Amino acid sequence: MPASVLYFFIIHGVLTFPDGSLTGHCTGSTAMAEAQKKQAVLRAEPAAEKTVNSRFCKVTINGRRELDVPAGKSLLTALRDEKILVPTVCRGRGICGVCKVKVLHGGGAILPTETPLLTKEEQRCNIRLSCQITVQNDIAVEIPEPVLSVREYDTVCTEIEELTYDMKRFRFELKNPPSMKFVAGQFVQLLCPRYKESSEAVYRAYSIASNPNDNGYIDLIIRKAPRGICTTWCFDYLKTGRSVRLSGPYGDFHLSDTDAPIICIAGGSGMAPFVSMLNAMRDIRSKRQVSYFFGGNTVRDLCLQEQMKIFESVLPGFMFIPVVARPAENERWSGQTGLVTEAVQRQFKDLSRHEGYLCGGPGMIDASIKVLKGLGMPDEKIYYDRFA
Ligand SMILES: Cc1cc2nc3c(=O)[nH]c(=O)nc-3n(C[C@H](O)[C@H](O)[C@H](O)COP(=O)(O)OP(=O)(O)OC[C@H]3O[C@@H](n4cnc5c(N)ncnc54)[C@H](O)[C@@H]3O)c2cc1C
Ligand code: FES
Repeated sequence: MPASVLYFFIIHGVLTFPDGSLTGHCTGSTAMAEAQKKQAVLRAEPAAEKTVNSRFCKVTINGRRELDVPAGKSLLTALRDEKILVPTVCRGRGICGVCKVKVLHGGGAILPTETPLLTKEEQRCNIRLSCQITVQNDIAVEIPEPVLSVREYDTVCTEIEELTYDMKRFRFELKNPPSMKFVAGQFVQLLCPRYKESSEAVYRAYSIASNPNDNGYIDLIIRKAPRGICTTWCFDYLKTGRSVRLSGPYGDFHLSDTDAPIICIAGGSGMAPFVSMLNAMRDIRSKRQVSYFFGGNTVRDLCLQEQMKIFESVLPGFMFIPVVARPAENERWSGQTGLVTEAVQRQFKDLSRHEGYLCGGPGMIDASIKVLKGLGMPDEKIYYDRFA
């Protein structure tokens, strides 16, 4: 196992720091999703960004790199200024909970703005929200190695393809650096600039839909959120030829290195990481058994069916099962109907030997976990990316 994997050892979304302490029961994108659920109850502000005086403090990272940081800066800003791209979805407002680092010394006591986003175990291990720490004195932190390799990428949008009435696939050619090394299942953050309908630039997470072996570009499958800041920009303002800033790769959602049969369940743009995984499986001529259930409300919510048929023809163990909750009166549909979870229950009676991979909105994820567990799938074999 490579050192970076050992350092950032993740099982079922649990991130382990080198000393064995845990970040909680989920991390990376899963933790982000869990944290986003708490947005409604927490509205903290970024740590004060005023420079108290010209005093500098030392920030030591993983015992081997030192930064001189003006007192008064937030730790998150200090790190990101040095291109250490600790993830943030809320840009330091204490909402998303993805900016966690382990503090070895310094940093003061855990703040009330942090506690709702940290598990008891994390608090015990001094895992902190870097956006809430104001650097006032010397501080030593531990940051997982994969986070240290996150980079910013200048890209150009080269293709936009309509997949459904509310989903598009965007291709971003990587210019600088010209390639990104990622694992199928990981995600990037897209920097949506200020524009007519949004007074601030925002970052949003999107799962990579392209093949990790074609690492000169990144495909994203984006579903339009009604009045959503970033998706409105992507759908109504982003044109081919336009420069876009991405950062990544982030997250720990990826296929395990076993040959256990797999159940995948997705809805909407939850299709994205599976397209990446299936491409990677095709490249290694995988024979692994994969049953992929994709749910839509109506037939017009289904997408990439032709591509799925091609995967079925080249991956001997792969089966795509589209499920439509309620076909509209004018829609012809001879496939499965009802909830995607009902289709799983119809097809399988015992999933104790399977692994589950889920991607999509929180409702579908929670319902799927319940069903998979009910069919005997062990908790630690259920992996998910929640697009909260
Ligand atoms: C790990 C991860 C991976 C993801 N991957 C994908 C992916 O591959 N594809 C994809 O499409 N999405 C993905 N997402 C979701 C994505 O990050 C965004 O959340 C989504 O695109 C919406 O962003 P937005 O800026 O358009 O909407 P936002 O502006 O964030 O708004 C979201 C919704 O909330 C509503 N809203 C906002 N503010 C309010 C308010 N004050 N009151 C009421 N409603 C409000 C908006 O109308 C909108 O419908 C992923 C998320 C995570 C965490
Ligand atoms: S909680 Fe969002 S960046 Fe810290």
